Order: sequence, then C-alpha cells, then structure tokens
Amino acid sequence: MTAPPPIAMLAELTHRCPLACPYCSNPTDLLTRDHELDTETWADVFRQAAEMGVLQLHISGGEPASRPDLVELTQAAAEAGLYPNLITSGVGLTPKRLDALEQVGLDHIQLSLQGTTADLADWIGGYKGGFDRKMKVATEIKNRGIPLTLNAVMHRHNLDDLERTIEMAVDLGARRLEVACVQFHGWAETNRDQLLPTLEQTKEAKRIVSEAEHRLRGTMAFDFVPPDYYSDFPKACMGGWGSTGLNVTPDGTVLPCHAAESIPHLKFDNVRDRTLSEIWYKSEAFNAYRGTDWLPDPCQSCDRKEIDFGGCRCQALALVGDASATDPVCHKSPHHQKVVQALDAALNTPEQDLVYRKLPTVSKQVV
Ligand code: SF4
Ligand code: FES
Repeated sequence: MTAPPPIAMLAELTHRCPLACPYCSNPTDLLTRDHELDTETWADVFRQAAEMGVLQLHISGGEPASRPDLVELTQAAAEAGLYPNLITSGVGLTPKRLDALEQVGLDHIQLSLQGTTADLADWIGGYKGGFDRKMKVATEIKNRGIPLTLNAVMHRHNLDDLERTIEMAVDLGARRLEVACVQFHGWAETNRDQLLPTLEQTKEAKRIVSEAEHRLRGTMAFDFVPPDYYSDFPKACMGGWGSTGLNVTPDGTVLPCHAAESIPHLKFDNVRDRTLSEIWYKSEAFNAYRGTDWLPDPCQSCDRKEIDFGGCRCQALALVGDASATDPVCHKSPHHQKVVQALDAALNTPEQDLVYRKLPTVSKQVV
C-alpha cells in the first residue's frame, strides 16, 4: 500500500532526565549520552521531516532541557518550517532559556505534572524539589503567554486527585489538559501492578472529566486517555501503525511508535544510514503492520478494523507474545482473558516499592 506522509514527529533528543518516573514510556534499556545524535544531524533530520510533510515536531526525551543545544535545535526546527512543541518536566528551563526558546520560534510547551502536591509529585518523579521548580517554570510560561498544555499522567496513586489537577491547570492558564492514564509500556509495564487504577477510580475519573469539559468549554480543552484495560475496544495506537507519525530515538533509530523496539523480530533503520523518507515509505518495520491487509481474525471481518486497526502491536506482544495478534484489550480477541488476568494480578498484588527509571552507569557499546 502507499502510505500518506507523516504529519507529526517525536524527537527524543536524549534519555537523560533529572526525574525518574516509574511510568516512563522510554524503553527500560536507556541510551547514555555518548549515543546521542549531534546538533547538525538532528537539524538535518528536522529538514528532512519538513520536506516530507511533517508539521508538528514534538521535542521530547527524557528531558530535552538536558541537551545544552536545545535552543539551537528548536531554532533549526522552526527554520525548517516545523511547529516545535517542547515536552518537558520543566526542570532545567530557566527564565533566560525560556526567553531564548521563545525568540527562536518555540510554538508550544507541554508540561508534565506528577501530582498536585510536592510530597506526591516528588515521590512519583523520584526527585526532591522537582515540584517547586516545576511550579516556578509554569509561572514563567504563564507570564510569557506561551501556549501551554498540562500533561497529567494519572495512575492509582494520583487519580483521586483529579479535581485538584483540573483546578491547577486552570490556575496555570493551560489551554489544554491531558488526563493521560498510564499506558503499560516501558517502565510502566514493569510497575503495572502498582500503578493500574481500580475500575471505581476509572469510572469516577470519566465522570469528573466529562463534567469539567462541559463547565470549562471555551476556557480549557481536555484530552482524556482512560486506562484501556477497562475498555471493550482497543485504542487506534498511533492512529494506525506507520500512518501519521514517527519517533526518532536519541541515537537516530526511527520507530513507528515509542515501544516498537520491544518487538524483537523487527529491524529498525537509523537516520545515520538511510533518509527519513526511505525509512518511512520503504522500510520493512514501517510496512510490517500498515493498513489492514495483515490483520488476523476476528479483526479481518470486523466493522471496526478501519477505526482501531486491531489496536496496539506492542500491547499484543507484551500480553499475548505475538505482535500480530488482535490487541487482547478487545473483548472479541481470543486472548482477552490475558487482560482479565493482568487486571486480577494488579489489583491483588500487595503494595510494593516502585521501580524507578534509571540510566545504566556503564554505556552500551556504540555501534
Ligand atoms: Fe478492533 Fe479487531 Fe477488536 Fe474489531 S476485532 S474491535 S478490529 S481489535
Ligand atoms: Fe507500539 Fe502501540 S505502543 S503499537
């Protein structure tokens, strides 16, 4: 099939981050600084992306502010004609850096929120003092009028605090609030039993979001991502594999989604070896699950196959052991029982310490 051009790209500039969130979507095998692409290579990737038709560039990490060349990279993105959106914890963003970012064309900031109090947020982020620093940065962003989305990652330990989270987003002048319940990839999969919310929490969250959406119409928009284990149907992960967006990891590996490297039989190309366009249109990995021809039954004969494309490949692999299986979240999947079992295990496991994200102390060999 002929794929349309991508419209968005996620550039994971680095895996370095002062925070250590136990639900981080980065892979558990994190890359150290010596693997990262240099400034010029990233700038070239941004130009290639713009030429292909990409509009939005999500500058992410890890913590992108850990890169000393963040301003230079943002400038390169804006000059290429992309709309740069900075996805950040805020730690590492000084007023001076914010001024410089604004000057070179930063379009939007997406600030993560771990909790509404210092105790909760610093415990979840594994970084003492992080909440206070974040609040200072949030005020600086508000004072400058930079368009802000607050990204509240929700789970068992903070979902009951949702009403306060919404109030906080309004106070900070956010134009959008993402209430994003943790999806179980990367570090979150390791911590699933400790993070999965209960069904009651999920129902209450839906009620609160729906009421707030109505009340705050015209002031703040909402994106609500519920925990999909409680859904009847899976999400259309990435809007369908290789259909709208691509991710570039710190070392230049190009992925169809952030967890794709967990699929062991796929080989992912690198911008150091092939152009972005070749990778998007011709690589084996991007074509592996494009469209609907590859779908198994029951998806093949299902009237939702153009809506969810059989769900998430990485979730099918994690729960069923087969990336080409129907996402087991779907109640029609022959493996739906795997989700029921995972829920049962998560809700009956006694409380344990969280496993925090951490970079290896010894670097993997650079190839
Ligand atoms: Fe989606 Fe497949 Fe389930 Fe149909 S059977 S709803 S296409 S996952
Ligand atoms: Fe990889 Fe959903 S996270 S397809």
